Amino acid sequence: MQPLVVEQLVRRFEQGGRRVEALAGVDLVVEAGDFVSIMGASGSGKSTLLHLAAGLTRPDSGRVVVAGQDLGAMNDKDLTLFRRQHIGLIFQSFNLIPTLTAVENVALPLRLAGGAAGDVMEQAHAMLDRLGLAQRADHRPEALSGGEQQRVAIGRALITHPTLILADEPTGNLDSAASVSVCQLLRDLCEHDGATILMVTHEPSVAAWAKRGVFIADGHIVDRFDSSVVDSAAALAQRYQTMLQTR
Ligand SMILES: Nc1ncnc2c1ncn2[C@@H]1O[C@H](COP(=O)(O)OP(=O)(O)O)[C@@H](O)[C@H]1O
Ligand SMILES: [Mg+2]
Repeated sequence: MQPLVVEQLVRRFEQGGRRVEALAGVDLVVEAGDFVSIMGASGSGKSTLLHLAAGLTRPDSGRVVVAGQDLGAMNDKDLTLFRRQHIGLIFQSFNLIPTLTAVENVALPLRLAGGAAGDVMEQAHAMLDRLGLAQRADHRPEALSGGEQQRVAIGRALITHPTLILADEPTGNLDSAASVSVCQLLRDLCEHDGATILMVTHEPSVAAWAKRGVFIADGHIVDRFDSSVVDSAAALAQRYQTMLQTR
């Protein structure tokens, strides 16, 4: 079953009495084990698409189907429970809880799902180990570097083995070394741990880590590519620039 199917998705906003069509009929399928990037300029609709895929907001029309289930058919309470079970979210700003340690942050989704404390902490420690952060388990977010904080946030997103990971500009607050390490980790999780990832970015060097990509402009998908046919991040950047200029 496909982790994500998006059909004819439309989302409009009112802005100072003007109607903005943030998404104007988007179709997208993400297959199990895939790593897909969404690229586009600021304001092109990337975050809107990700929020709809997560069921954080609802479309004006069209459908979002995650793990075979139509999000539109769920009430808000069912949607919250479904999201906890099936979707892992990663944000640009990490969104860790400052009063909790790294291991407690990673454990949080399992705690919310009612897991027994001892068992949950064991799983959270194993996850930090997997992410190379065992030494940081008892540190609070403020004592961690940006790259470490994002890896903790990735651990928190993964701990429930979600059907789909959604990442919105995950490297947006990181320096280039930390950015590469987060991209490498996401690619690894997809190749070796069976994760399925949909990632928004406006940086070709980040998008190049994904297996496939789509370009979005003014709420439309305007191009799709397979990373294996794009030789390098520079070639991808060139294609992205061309897309922006021909709009
Ligand atoms: N909550 C909102 N209220 C009004 N307009 C919004 C809202 N969210 C997004 N928009 C508008 O929708 C368009 C797409 O926004 P967004 O999806 O955030 O773009 P991106 O993530 O690609 O930068 C923009 O014109 C933005 O101003
Ligand atoms: Mg955005």
